[in-house]
Amino acid sequence: MNLPQIASKLPSKIEIQAHKRYVWCSCGLSMKQPYCDGGHKGTGFKPIIIQESENKTIFLCNCKKTSNSPYCDGTHNNL
Ligand code: FES
Repeated sequence: MNLPQIASKLPSKIEIQAHKRYVWCSCGLSMKQPYCDGGHKGTGFKPIIIQESENKTIFLCNCKKTSNSPYCDGTHNNL
């Protein structure tokens, strides 16, 4: 498996809706960041599904180097 591509060195602030399904790109190749568009095919990476029971604000990692996928953990500050 190759290393993921850095899509951006800033996270995406997302207002997610309760019970709605979101699919986070883990490979960095999607053209619809921070969401999966199927670009991971053949890379060994798999997207991560996000679904919460309540509305909330989250920060999704776009550098793809976080240790808390799919959420930003501040790693982008050291890239
Ligand atoms: S955008 Fe990846 S850790 Fe913040």
